[in-house]
Amino acid sequence: MKTIVIFSGAGLSKESGIPTFRDSLNGLWENYKIEEVASRAGWVRDPAPVLGFYAARWKNIQACEPNAAHLAITELSQRFRVINITQNIDDLLEKAGVSDVIHLHGRINSRKCEWHQSISGVPLDREFHCDYRVNHTAPVQLGERCPKCGGQLRPDIVWFGEAVEMQWEYFEKLAESTDVFIGIGTSGQVEPAATLLSVFLPAKERYFIDPNPPSGLTKYNLLEGAACQHMPDLVRILMAR
Ligand code: APR
Repeated sequence: MKTIVIFSGAGLSKESGIPTFRDSLNGLWENYKIEEVASRAGWVRDPAPVLGFYAARWKNIQACEPNAAHLAITELSQRFRVINITQNIDDLLEKAGVSDVIHLHGRINSRKCEWHQSISGVPLDREFHCDYRVNHTAPVQLGERCPKCGGQLRPDIVWFGEAVEMQWEYFEKLAESTDVFIGIGTSGQVEPAATLLSVFLPAKERYFIDPNPPSGLTKYNLLEGAACQHMPDLVRILMAR
């Protein structure tokens, strides 16, 4: 059975109505810079706007539906072994029926303790040791406390300045057995995720779908255009083999 790895960024969900990261970076959220409401520093300064920002994102994402590109990925995963590695915090792949999704930057549908052991890369103002992390159906409110250690609960998102947990050994091994690797809707500007574009070079075939693909992807078949334009076509070709 073919192994297909799909590495996605914000462009995959754009046509569902979720603004790309770079679109929102140009703007402000209620007069706060995005970095101020998506960082440990912002959280320590004042958690209220951070929670407000994620409550607004949660509401936006709840109102969105999977698009033709997400649905094409579902179709592909019914026939092949498909592993999704995404930078997106939305749940549109899951809503489309895909189950094997690695969310590198966290998930909007999950909350964790502010002292969670997954948090690293920030100055150690206290030990990060708690393991409280659960799915949720409503955004975190100020004053909601961790039942294990009493810390304030927070969105389960990797913020600016926090380290992304990368399973390098697993990815390097997976690349050796990957038949088709598809990069889609990512600017390739955010590390360490962007390094996956090199890690998966051993894949037998490599595609990249984006209206404005990052430069230097000489070893990729570039499909310049929107996710909903190219993904269904590429899936049709792969399914017809
Ligand atoms: N179809 C496919 N790609 C698109 C579309 C579309 N309809 N519209 C825009 N794009 C592409 C852009 O050309 C760009 O290359 O999506 C990409 C979006 O890039 P970014 O906004 O940088 O998002 P991403 O690559 O996901 O990286 C930022 O870091 O902190 C984070 O979690 C955050 O996911 C975010 C990541």
